[in-house]
Amino acid sequence: MANPTVPEILTGLVRRAIAAAGLGNGDDPIDPVVASNKPQFGDYQSNHAFRVGKANGLNPRAAGQKIHDHLPEHPAIAKTAVAGPGFINFFIDDDWLCGHIIEMVGDEHLNLPQSGAGKTLVIDYSSPNIAKRMHIGHMRSTIIGNTMLRLHQAAGWNTVADNHIGDWGTPIGKIIVAWKGWRDEDNLAADPIGELERLYVSFGQKAENDDTLIEQAREETARLQAGDPENRALWQRFLEISGIERDDIYNRIGATFDVTLGESFYNDMLAGVVEDLLKHDVATISDGAVIVQFPEDAQPKMLRETTVVIRKADGAALYATTDLATLEYRMKEYAPDRILYLTGREQQLHFQQFFAAWNQLRAARGVEDTASPELIHLWFGMLKVDGAIPSTRRGGTIRLAELLDKAVEEARKVVEDASPELSGEEKDHVASVVGVNTIRYFDLSQNPQSTVNFEWARALSLQGNTAPYMMYAVARIRSIQRKAGVEAALSNLAITNPKERALLIQLLKLPDAITAALETQRPNLLCEYLYEVAGMLNSFYAVSRVLGSDEQASRLAFIEAVARVLEYGLDLLGIRTLERM
Ligand code: ARG
Repeated sequence: MANPTVPEILTGLVRRAIAAAGLGNGDDPIDPVVASNKPQFGDYQSNHAFRVGKANGLNPRAAGQKIHDHLPEHPAIAKTAVAGPGFINFFIDDDWLCGHIIEMVGDEHLNLPQSGAGKTLVIDYSSPNIAKRMHIGHMRSTIIGNTMLRLHQAAGWNTVADNHIGDWGTPIGKIIVAWKGWRDEDNLAADPIGELERLYVSFGQKAENDDTLIEQAREETARLQAGDPENRALWQRFLEISGIERDDIYNRIGATFDVTLGESFYNDMLAGVVEDLLKHDVATISDGAVIVQFPEDAQPKMLRETTVVIRKADGAALYATTDLATLEYRMKEYAPDRILYLTGREQQLHFQQFFAAWNQLRAARGVEDTASPELIHLWFGMLKVDGAIPSTRRGGTIRLAELLDKAVEEARKVVEDASPELSGEEKDHVASVVGVNTIRYFDLSQNPQSTVNFEWARALSLQGNTAPYMMYAVARIRSIQRKAGVEAALSNLAITNPKERALLIQLLKLPDAITAALETQRPNLLCEYLYEVAGMLNSFYAVSRVLGSDEQASRLAFIEAVARVLEYGLDLLGIRTLERM
């Protein structure tokens, strides 16, 4: 069990004070105590007097005073005050602060509340379509998705990471036609995924001048789906080839999955879903197709007067049908409390439609179906890479593997400049880690919903909210510790100047920053928090010497605590740190 966080402790005290002051029974909703934004208002503050005052017909200042006067004693608190129109300010006790930080950085989860204990998350991320190389369009889903997975795991969730690959339907039929018609065996041997991609692209080009090709592709798809052994074997081969290139990318980026259940897996369940929707009057038949229509007052707004096709008149199922079947399967298999889907913004309507259709179906099924998971579509904006990578721009897309190679190459130049003393081998190693981290961190440090312009100079800068800067902050601590030649004993932690105190208060906020990133699905909040930690550490170095100072023992403990917070936070972001760089 993690220790309570400081806001939890202080909110608990306010709750007790309210009961003691006769302003409520202690079970009422309470505005949690939050960090103050100005030092003169203490380290933390409660704004709850406004709410309690209203409920009790008191002005907030009087309510604040009453709460304040009934606050129980607690070792965490050095001083309290009522300020302004009714804020209650808390000043944290220095000794208690040090003790709490020592416990926190010794805790497996750094006191992160285990809010996910006993709960299950299914996360559907990355999910590319097979037989193509992974390109930049898959990057954000893979990186942000993997970080959301790590954040949930840290908060105690059971997790199932599922790669819902697109491995079914007419694209496969097209590749089968192209494969049978004009595959290049030499190219296939040399670059299997490249040859599949070439076949797919060339099919599109040839189909422009040959109408029969699309019909052939449809037939091949139908034969595949009917179980034709030849097409099944080809399809297996495409799956295998695609899997190899995917795994390579995932290893480099640090993404992991528990299952890879592609669209094909749900093929046999599609008919049942359509029947169910019809039986419960959620779907209707229109011109031979099965559709779900959303009325003009539907919520959310984007659904209004839209229609989603569940089965085409020719009997073909669609993307939404598969997603409904997938959801049914996940409910039965994992009984999740939350399902998180990561895709680009252009799929918003699709997700809102199938969520709404499924909710209608659940409502129509009635009471026995009570489990109600949270369905969250975490969409993200486009990522553009600037300064291009000339050799990798083909058809306007940038291949992920080549972007990663390029990142390592660029990182090598930075390392050459910044750390000339390292051996060539060390430089290569540092560059390989920095390169991938740079891509990952740059993506994560942006609001997921923003359109992002990736710029090499900005992403690799040693100043600013970047992977190299964050990694350097950790490596510098490790370097100071090596030079000290003694183990840092955390028990020596003490406050020797205001910069240290401010940073220790900042360290207290780690659990809050993680929880905020988790619950708002914005890993960039954690990046910002860590960036602030690193900046405050630099302000500390500017006024305090560690090595050879009278305070060396406590300052070694101090930087050790900072290192642990940075490393823990960066690990949740999937950023590997180095002891030396
Ligand atoms: N394969 C889809 C694509 O590349 C993404 C799938 C996302 N997951 C889902 N359950 N629809 O756009």
